[in-house]
Amino acid sequence: MTDQRTEPDPLYDAVAATYDHDHYGLIAAGRNQSATQLHDLPFRGRTALDIGCGTGTFLAELHEAYPDCLLWGIDPSTAMLEVAASKVPATLLPGTIDDVVPAEKFDLISFHFVLAYESIEKLLDYCAEHLEPSGVVAIATTTMDNIPASAAACDFVDQSVLDEHFRIPASRDELRARIEAHGAFRVVDYRSHIRELEFTDTDAIREFVFESNWFRGFADAFRDEFEATLAVVPLPHRDLFQSHALLLSRRSAH
Ligand SMILES: C[S@@+](CC[C@H](N)C(=O)[O-])C[C@H]1O[C@@H](n2cnc3c(N)ncnc32)[C@H](O)[C@@H]1O
Repeated sequence: MTDQRTEPDPLYDAVAATYDHDHYGLIAAGRNQSATQLHDLPFRGRTALDIGCGTGTFLAELHEAYPDCLLWGIDPSTAMLEVAASKVPATLLPGTIDDVVPAEKFDLISFHFVLAYESIEKLLDYCAEHLEPSGVVAIATTTMDNIPASAAACDFVDQSVLDEHFRIPASRDELRARIEAHGAFRVVDYRSHIRELEFTDTDAIREFVFESNWFRGFADAFRDEFEATLAVVPLPHRDLFQSHALLLSRRSAH
């Protein structure tokens, strides 16, 4: 695991047109928890930045809930940003946090489902620099213990391969520990979403586990092993999908 610059994942240019289908509603569930946390706070800020904003759905929801809030989004996929531009009046900036250094400070910085691409520490460093003193950070993410039954079935993937590909924290507890170890923020709200999933055919497992989930990053290297596993996996295949939504404030704010 390093904090070196990550190359943009070309996947998102390819899937931008269909990304919002969110087949099992799992991205929406994380996003909704984040929106609820802001509502419950209640959030009253005037500026918000969404890092890895994708197709802009969260920005559009912020615009609806907080119409006076000025919105920015950053994403390396120009195709995802084109979809976002059709949904929401926001300043949309192509790139990553390595490229985009806004002059503004923000009352809210969010990042949803981007921990596969940037480490939590690097994102928190960025937030520490660009968040207003009373601002909040909204995170939605999976952790590596997501879809445990599928991961157990795919034990042919070495831990070293996982370590090389992923910055995503191992578990809910590790995510909290890494935020606390970073030191700049405290967790003010932590919710998890757990959904039982049932797959009745192998095409659905292949699509969910290997094409759209965390296996995708190294799918091609293990295609044969995965197909062999799929051929014998008992049906229906059941798993648990988990995501976590966290709201953080600056430690120095209290
Ligand atoms: C799983 S999607 C999440 C999109 C959106 N946040 C959501 O919740 O629907 C991951 C997004 O991260 C973007 N991304 C990839 N590498 C990134 C990086 N280094 N920094 C920020 N975003 C990145 C992708 O282009 C994609 O839009």
